[in-house]
Amino acid sequence: MTSIRSIKGTQDILPDQSHRWQALEAAIRNTMGRYGYEEIRTPAFERTELFARGVGEETDIVSKEMYSWTDQGGEDLTLKPELTAPVARAYIQHNMGGQSPTNKLYYIDALFRRERPQKGRYRQFHQFGVEAFGSEHPEIDAEVIALAMAVFNGVGLSGLSLKLNSIGSPQCRGDYRDALRDFLTPHLNNLSETSQNRFEKNPLRMLDTKAPHEIEILKDAPNISDCWTQDDKDHFDEVCSLLDAMGISYDLAPNLVRGLDYYTRTTFEITSTALGAQDAICGGGRYDGLVETLGGKSTPGIGFAAGMERILLAMGDDTSTGHEPHIYIVGLGDTVRPTVLQLAESLRQNGLAVAFDVLRRSMKAQMREANKAGAKYAIIMGDQELESGQAEVKDLSTGDQQKVALDDLSSHMNSLSF
Ligand code: HAM
Repeated sequence: MTSIRSIKGTQDILPDQSHRWQALEAAIRNTMGRYGYEEIRTPAFERTELFARGVGEETDIVSKEMYSWTDQGGEDLTLKPELTAPVARAYIQHNMGGQSPTNKLYYIDALFRRERPQKGRYRQFHQFGVEAFGSEHPEIDAEVIALAMAVFNGVGLSGLSLKLNSIGSPQCRGDYRDALRDFLTPHLNNLSETSQNRFEKNPLRMLDTKAPHEIEILKDAPNISDCWTQDDKDHFDEVCSLLDAMGISYDLAPNLVRGLDYYTRTTFEITSTALGAQDAICGGGRYDGLVETLGGKSTPGIGFAAGMERILLAMGDDTSTGHEPHIYIVGLGDTVRPTVLQLAESLRQNGLAVAFDVLRRSMKAQMREANKAGAKYAIIMGDQELESGQAEVKDLSTGDQQKVALDDLSSHMNSLSF
C-alpha cells in the first residue's frame, strides 16, 4: 500500500526542530511580558465575511489564497489567513474597548494561505504578532516597532532592515489613487496583465510590482507623501523622531503600501539579508478604520505580524538538540532494573533530565547512546555495583570516574553542576 503524505506547503515539526520553536516562543513571550502585551487566542476558522470585509475583497489573500468552504449548515467559513481581522472581531465582540481604553494583545498561531510553496513560503505557516487598540498617537507606533526589533535582536537576528512609510488617511489614499491612475494612464499598454487589473481595482498595489520595466516607469510616479494631510505628515514625523530617540534605524520606503486594505498612516516591513526571495520577516501598520469597518466603535489600532518559519531560517541551525539529558543511567542485568527506574524517578523529581536504556543493550551500546544523547554524566550500575552498594559515576566530558554509595547517589548527583 502507498503511504499517505502531508499536504504540499505544510510541514511536520519534528523533535530535531521543535526545541528551536520552543526557544523562539519562549523569547517572544518573555519580550511580550516586558512590553506589557497579553496573549489572545482565536479560533482556527471564522466566517468568510470577516476577511472579505476586514482584509478587502480585492487583496491577493481574499481573492486568491483563502481556504474557504461552505459547511453542512450552509455557512461560508475560512481557515484564518491572518490574525488582525480575527483579533479585531474578538475585541469588538467582547467589548474589550469598553473595559479598558487601551488593549495591547499578542498572539502566536498557525495561518493558512494557498500560495505557491517555496523556501520561506508555506500554505500553513506560523506568525507571532501584536495588535494594540485604543491610541491614535505616534508613541504606540514607535513602541510596536521597537517591540518587533526587540524580539528579533533578542534571538540574535542580524542583517535586518526596517522600511517605513505612511500611506496617510483614507482621504489621502483616495487622492493618491487618482494621481497614480492619471500618471499611469499613458503607460497602460506597457503594463502587465496583473498591473492592468490592479490599475482598475487597487492601483496602490501596482507599487508592489517586481517587473523591471514597470519599476522603471514608476520611478517618476507621484509619491503618496504628496497627498498626505498636515496631520498625516505630523504623525509620521513624530513616529520617525521617536524611533530616532530610541536609536532604531530605518529606511524611508515611499512605495511600501502593503497588501492588505485595512492600513492607514504608518506601514512598515522588516527584511533580512539572511533570507532569499521571501525576505520579509515582518509586516505591519496602523489600521484606524478596521474596528469600525467590522461593526465596532471607531477605534484606532496598530500591529504587526512576523513569520516564524522565516525567523528560524534566518537564525540558522544550531547543533544542540536542546533536550540533552543531564544523566544517562547505564543499567546492566535484570536485578538492577528496579533500582535504575527508582533512581531515575527520584532524580527527575529533583529537576534533572535523566535517560536510561529500554532496549536491554550491552554496556558498550549503552555508553555509546549516553554520549550520542549528549548526557553530561553516566551512572553505571550492574549486579556487582548493586552488591557492593556503590555505583560508578562517570563525567562524560572529562572521562573522570568515581564510586558513589547508592544511598548517597541522589544527593551526590543533585550537588553536581550541569
Ligand atoms: P503579512 O505581511 O501578510 O501581514 O504577513 C506578515 C508576515 O507573515 C510576513 O512578513 C511573513 O514573514 C509571514 N508570512 C506571510 N505569508 C507567509 C507564508 N505563506 N509562508 C510563510 N510566512 C508567511 C499580516 O498578516 C498582517 N496581519 C500583519 C499585521 C498585523 N498588520 C497589522 N497587524
